[in-house]
Amino acid sequence: MANQNSNNRHNFSNKIVLITGGTGALGSSITKTFIESNATVISSYHNDKETEKIQTDTKPTVQLIKANIINEEEVEKLVSEILDKYGRIDILVNVVGAFRGGKTVMELEEKEWDIMMNVNLKSAFLISKHVARQMISSKYGKIIHVSSRLGLHSEGRDSAYAASKSGLIRLVESLAEETRNSNMNVNCIMPSIIDTQANRKAMPNADFNKWLKPVDLANVVLFLCSEEAKTITGAAIPTFGVA
Ligand SMILES: NC(=O)c1ccc[n+]([C@@H]2O[C@H](COP(=O)([O-])OP(=O)(O)OC[C@H]3O[C@@H](n4cnc5c(N)ncnc54)[C@H](OP(=O)(O)O)[C@@H]3O)[C@@H](O)[C@H]2O)c1
Repeated sequence: MANQNSNNRHNFSNKIVLITGGTGALGSSITKTFIESNATVISSYHNDKETEKIQTDTKPTVQLIKANIINEEEVEKLVSEILDKYGRIDILVNVVGAFRGGKTVMELEEKEWDIMMNVNLKSAFLISKHVARQMISSKYGKIIHVSSRLGLHSEGRDSAYAASKSGLIRLVESLAEETRNSNMNVNCIMPSIIDTQANRKAMPNADFNKWLKPVDLANVVLFLCSEEAKTITGAAIPTFGVA
């Protein structure tokens, strides 16, 4: 019988889905939408404080596993824990990321540059590496990363973030080519500003109606993971909204 919250667009009832960063603002919406589509969802989290909300919203349908995705040992442990329990990962949605902006290249500190490269790019490399190995041997897999509109074109005072998200697009293209004969799809989305609590706090005078709603991005992610999108791989989807 279908889940009572069933999403009538997609049915992922036989799919094992790992969402890294699934407790964040966008990640929790993607997690919820996959659950409504009857998927088995495992979400990684990083900070204990962030898990409370998602546990209340989605309990008991999501399994939460703590992992620092910029540490290869922790990534390996996360992936093997899931494989031991479920046997495979069909879909990986990597939502891990962070933004540091407001400084020129001349003002930016080395450690701020490193944080952006690690949390936005190294994380994507490590989780892709360990999940794709299993997907290649299963001859099935969907991988979605979250880049940014700034990965296409910097607006200034965002060099480290824009460079990391641009690098992510190249990583996606490379992995898509490497897995082209393995029945896999590897893509990313490039959102503009998302309507999150953090953004509302940072930009209180903005028109929030012009911002992307997390659920609209979640629907794009689910489409990319569906069989309807099986011909799309290596793409960076411009999810800039219509406003
Ligand atoms: N918000 C926007 O306007 C916007 C626009 C374009 C693109 N994006 C991208 O969209 C994605 C989600 O953004 P968001 O606004 O939802 O951000 P968010 O709420 O801060 O979520 C980011 C997620 O990444 C996790 N994370 C950070 N560092 C980690 C690490 N070392 N190991 C494991 N997990 C880690 C966080 O976990 P903890 O909270 O537990 O640390 C959190 O779940 C990011 O990749 C972001 O760059 C956002």
